[in-house]
Amino acid sequence: MSNPRWHADTIVAHAGVGNDPVYGSLSTPIYQTVTYQHTSAGFGPYDYSRTDNPTRAALADVLGRLEGGAKASVFGSGMAAITAVAHLLRAGDHVILTQDVYGGTYRLFEDTFAKFGLSSSYVDTRDPDQVYAAFKPSTRLVFIETPSNPLLQITDLALMAEMAHAHHAILAVDNTFMTSLRQRPLDFGADIVVYSATKYLAGHNDVVAGALIAGNDDLAEQIAIIANASGGILGPWDSWLILRGIKTLDLRISRQEASAVAIAQLLNEHPAISVVYYPLLPNHRGQDLHLRQAAGPGAMISFRLSDESAVGPFMDKLQCIIPAVSLGGVESLITHPFNETHRELPESVRRELGITPGLLRLSVGIENQNDLLDDLKQALPH
Ligand SMILES: Cc1ncc(COP(=O)(O)O)c(C=O)c1O
Repeated sequence: MSNPRWHADTIVAHAGVGNDPVYGSLSTPIYQTVTYQHTSAGFGPYDYSRTDNPTRAALADVLGRLEGGAKASVFGSGMAAITAVAHLLRAGDHVILTQDVYGGTYRLFEDTFAKFGLSSSYVDTRDPDQVYAAFKPSTRLVFIETPSNPLLQITDLALMAEMAHAHHAILAVDNTFMTSLRQRPLDFGADIVVYSATKYLAGHNDVVAGALIAGNDDLAEQIAIIANASGGILGPWDSWLILRGIKTLDLRISRQEASAVAIAQLLNEHPAISVVYYPLLPNHRGQDLHLRQAAGPGAMISFRLSDESAVGPFMDKLQCIIPAVSLGGVESLITHPFNETHRELPESVRRELGITPGLLRLSVGIENQNDLLDDLKQALPH
C-alpha cells in the first residue's frame, strides 16, 4: 500500500513493503531467479530476470516515486547507468558536460564513447555564456553535476534545462551528491536523473549500483530497452540491500548534513586550510541558487591544505575518518581527488580546474559529530 501524497521520508521508510502477494512478507522477497514458469497461454508479468525482476522492480518503484512519480531503471553500477545515457545517442552527436564531472564519467565519454563517434566539451556550467558557446548543431545531451564532484560547483538546473531544450538536446543530472531528498532535478525541467546508488541511496558502503529516472514515459521506455539490450542490470540480492539501506536515507542524510555544517565551519576557521568548498559557507559561489533548487547543503565537503606536503601526514594521522574512495555511506571517508577519483583527467586539466595535490574531499558519515571534529583537529597541522 502506498499513498501518492506521502512525503519522501515515509516513502523510504516503507521501501519494499507490500510486495509479497503470497505470504504478506513485510520485506520484499529476494527473487533469486533467472526465469519464470509460464503457462501455455504465454508469459506472466515477468519472463527473464535481465529484462525485469520483482526485487529490482520494487527498488525501481521506490526510486521513481521519490522523484515525483517517474519511471526508474536500476543498473549494476553508476557507470552502467551513465553508459545507458550515452547509448541514447548516436555516432556524430555532441555532449556538453560539467568541467569537473566525476573522473569515471570523463573517462567514459573521452575514451569509450569517443571511439564510437561521440564528441564532448567540458565547460564551467556555472557560467551560462560558456554553456551557450559550447552548443553545436549536433549537441544532443547536456550532462551536469550540481553540486559537482569534487569542487561543489553549483549549476542552474532550470536554466540548463531551458538551454538544452532550445537546442533539441536533453538534460541529464547526476544527482548522486544530493539524492531526491535534497534536490529533484525533474522538477526543474531535467529529462534524466542519474545516480550512483552505491553512495547515499544504498548508504552502507557494501553495494555497487546505479539508477536512471526519466522525466517522461517515452524516455523511460527507451532506457528500459537499452538496459535489457545491454544487460548492465542489478541483481536481486543487491537490489534488496538497497531497499533495506534506503529506509534510513532521511535519517542518515539529516545527521550527515548536521555534522557536515559543523565540520565545514571548523575547517573554514583553521589556519592550515586555505579554502573550503561547501554550499552553506557564505563565500561559496552559487550559494543562493543552490538553496533555491536544493533543500539542504548535503554532506560533501572539499578543502585545500595550504601546504600540499602536509596532505600525506594529515591522512596518516586520521583515526576515525577513513582514507578511501567513494562517498555517501555511514562511515566518513576522505579522498584525494588528484590521485584518486579524478586521476583520469590529464594532469594539466586537473590543475587548471583546481584539482591540485592539496585538495581533499570529505564524505561525512553518521559517527558522533564530536569524534569527527576531534579527529580532524588532532590530524590537521598545528
Ligand atoms: C558523482 C558520481 N557519479 C557517478 C559515479 C559512478 O558510480 P559507480 O561507482 O557506482 O559506478 C560516482 C562514483 O564515485 C560518482 O561520485
